[in-house]
Amino acid sequence: MIFGRTKSIDAILATAEKKALHRTLGAFQLTLFGIGCVIGTGIFVLTAAGAQKAGPGLMLAFAIAGAICIVAALCYAEIASMLPVAGSAYTYTYTVMGELLAWTVGWALVLEYAVAASAVSVGWSGYFSGTILNEFFGIQLPAALAAGPLVLGGAEGGIINLPAVIIALLMTWLLMIGTNESAKFNAILVAIKVTALTAFIILTLPKAEMANFNPFLPAGVFGGFGSGVGAVGAAATIFFAYVGFDAVSTAAEETKNPQRNVPIGLIGSLGFCTVFYILVAAGAVGTIGGQPIMGPNGIPFPAGSEALAVQCALPQYSDMLVCSNEALAHVLRQIGFGTIGNMLGIAAFVALPSVILILLFGQTRIFFVMSRDGLLPEGLSKIHPKWKTPYVVTAITGAVVAFAAAFLPVGQLADIANAGTLYAFMMVAIAVMMLRKSEPNRVRSFKTPALWLVGPLTIAGCIFLFLNLPFEAMLVLPLWGGIGIVIYYLYGYKKSHVGLGLDDAHALDADTPTT
Ligand code: ALA
Repeated sequence: MIFGRTKSIDAILATAEKKALHRTLGAFQLTLFGIGCVIGTGIFVLTAAGAQKAGPGLMLAFAIAGAICIVAALCYAEIASMLPVAGSAYTYTYTVMGELLAWTVGWALVLEYAVAASAVSVGWSGYFSGTILNEFFGIQLPAALAAGPLVLGGAEGGIINLPAVIIALLMTWLLMIGTNESAKFNAILVAIKVTALTAFIILTLPKAEMANFNPFLPAGVFGGFGSGVGAVGAAATIFFAYVGFDAVSTAAEETKNPQRNVPIGLIGSLGFCTVFYILVAAGAVGTIGGQPIMGPNGIPFPAGSEALAVQCALPQYSDMLVCSNEALAHVLRQIGFGTIGNMLGIAAFVALPSVILILLFGQTRIFFVMSRDGLLPEGLSKIHPKWKTPYVVTAITGAVVAFAAAFLPVGQLADIANAGTLYAFMMVAIAVMMLRKSEPNRVRSFKTPALWLVGPLTIAGCIFLFLNLPFEAMLVLPLWGGIGIVIYYLYGYKKSHVGLGLDDAHALDADTPTT
């Protein structure tokens, strides 16, 4: 039975032991690493889409999404402390729920990592075209090359988002030749991002006016399942701003005193970002206003839709927060801080590529482990003789990421990425609870407090956010999952190393090459 095809925990732990990575990371470095993965397109760009869905209620949306991520992070912390290996939610599911479900998680993680990398590439493109090309060089990229066919802000849309394609391919190339961000480089980028957001908060909050927060919830708290509007609809979208924190859990093996430091890293980075995000939202909405553009039926036009793009092209709406492709820089320019707005644009231009790099790296790592397990062709995990990287899988991933970035709007990409991530988070919460029952005596260097409350809250929160995504994004998960299951039965089911009884031999390979 495929549900019985599980990977043995002992074999996985033997791998971890064998690798015996140097434990160098402390709580502070881990928190910095988390912040480096997390702050990106979500806050710098999707603030506009969030406001279009919730108006000033965007602040509430950041709080809801942040709270759900924090309970999920508590689950991640326990399982990462038990199984400190690469492959994240995929590996965890493999040990507890068996191969088929693990495959579906690995397959869904493609949405979390690859599609998210596309979303961040498109977000970067907005800052590149707006700040770098337009503000500094006075160059207006032809609309056909600046956006995919249906992108917020351009009524006509474009043909291809060329800057997004170029940045996605550039990051892929860097990964292929073995570039990996050093902790020091990450710290510099985190400092740049945090400085930009701090400057934003300091400059905007004193200018905020109460009138701009009224009405606070123009589309209500709950816009209805599948509608993608209201405060929870916005929460489902800007959940993207927190995606990536789970990368911290994969560093458990390199962490000093993981029992203390992994939870601090996870909760610390998420707590920090939640507070910052709410303050940034308050500053943006409080200064230039963040009311949505309402459709004829009194419901906000869908973010990223052609209908909204048509409205945004009208002179009376074009300066609104909800119409901007570079939301935060736009706010600063509107309130008279043009130079600082441009500097914030440069900060996004410089720092967002590292988020793309981390997400691409995460994706290749998952594919790599899946192919080592025999569920994907082994040719994918071929290592380049000179670069020492899994170059085949990296190149394929990069091509797919660039393709999606070329044609789809940032908000839709983020929603699709969220759907996959929410599924993975839910499965991790289930895995932690099942392991408490099946392996009660196994050493856990961190135990999720009040697991029987936190676990179900995580599951309920993930399902709730999922149901509040726009209907089309929701649909992608079962469709993508269906394709995955067909591929599994055509390929992985027969080739699986666990299925062929090769589990232990390959468990020793269950990690990525160092790149
Ligand atoms: N959380 C990351 C971002 O917002 C993926 O860009």
